Amino acid sequence: MNVTRTQQGAGDEPIAFVDLRRQYAELAPAIDAAVGRILQTGAFILGDEVSRFEASFAAYCEAKHCIGVASGLDALTQILRGLGIGADDEVILPANTFIATALAVSQAGATPVLVDHDPHTYNIDPARIRHAITRRTRAIIPVHLYGRPAEMFQIQRIASEYGLIVVEDACQAHGATYRGHRCGSLARAAAFSFYPGKNLGAAGDAGAVVTDDDELADRIRLTRNYGSQVKYRHDAQGGNSRLDNLQAAILNVKLPNLDRWNERRRAMAQAYRTGLANLPLVLPEESPESRHVYHLFVIRCEARDALVTYLKDHGIDTGIHYPIPIHRQRAYATGCIPLRPLTYSEMFADHLLSLPMHPHMTVREVDRVIAAVRGFYDVTGTLREVTIPVESVTPSFHPSEFADVVESAGTSTRR
Ligand SMILES: Cc1ncc(COP(=O)(O)O)c(C=O)c1O
Repeated sequence: MNVTRTQQGAGDEPIAFVDLRRQYAELAPAIDAAVGRILQTGAFILGDEVSRFEASFAAYCEAKHCIGVASGLDALTQILRGLGIGADDEVILPANTFIATALAVSQAGATPVLVDHDPHTYNIDPARIRHAITRRTRAIIPVHLYGRPAEMFQIQRIASEYGLIVVEDACQAHGATYRGHRCGSLARAAAFSFYPGKNLGAAGDAGAVVTDDDELADRIRLTRNYGSQVKYRHDAQGGNSRLDNLQAAILNVKLPNLDRWNERRRAMAQAYRTGLANLPLVLPEESPESRHVYHLFVIRCEARDALVTYLKDHGIDTGIHYPIPIHRQRAYATGCIPLRPLTYSEMFADHLLSLPMHPHMTVREVDRVIAAVRGFYDVTGTLREVTIPVESVTPSFHPSEFADVVESAGTSTRR
């Protein structure tokens, strides 16, 4: 395979990292009708569509309550505040995540404690969580990064040993499952983002809290709406963090398509895995205990920046998640506790690359990405010699333990 085969051919459109126009094209009549309905009724704030979406999404996540809020960041912040987490408290989270996970902790008044990752799962390394626990620790926020559920069994076990609360950051994991249960049902509460490019995305900012905790749900219903359930009666000093009725109407149209779109993402991930085999790359691993929904398809490679440029020259857009770890951001020059060493978090920033991934990519586009990546390694020949240290692929706990847990699944990992 040589470079001419992988170059963007005449007539080949550039390949976008995410293409929301195609998603709209698929659902345009239903979305237009839903939006038109709201515009005609004028019911913009906390209307029927919000209630309908909250009921559907709670059921989808196997949870009792869903409370629509303005964003994923708000969902996390409202959960932490609602649980009484604040000044003098520490909250443990992975070091390589979107900054919102840490910002929510800071906005609640607590201190984020950043923990390194497992290089196989890209999620927080449960073994390192124990080292981060102090007398001030109140909660752990595992992030189901890139759409792969975090190791909730081990995390819940540590949490119950130390009396800590677990909150899922499920902002990248709509529809993912862990041991047969949906993300969103695996801890005390979960936060979702419906930022447009998410597996389930709105046409603007939107988010939701999902929980079985009646008291927490009631509190967040108040705090998202000026502390009010009845107009002009204020029982708490709340804020304004409501899910728009318009956004909820769009989410109601999209939700029934989520499982099909996730299946398509999984099929594309499999095509990438097959097409990119035997290159000096580390590809995302599947786990027998979870259903990854590939919000992102992230590879690990040497010469990452040269590959980005090469793919760009071939009309292929890519992403980096994330280029600067939280503890190296100016925003967190102070105000977070990095639990060193953060070997993988530091390494990921230089070596991870997200390939185009959205459910409306065509097979031909996936093939073009594969051909271009293979072309890069052909034309840059010497890279064939590079060996990336890939640790032996051992499960994070012994299979016999897995068998025990499967038998008791449904109780062991749930609150
Ligand atoms: C892991 C994670 N947490 C939190 C958020 C915050 O969500 P939002 O952008 O809706 O505030 C995101 C969104 O990108 C995210 O990916």
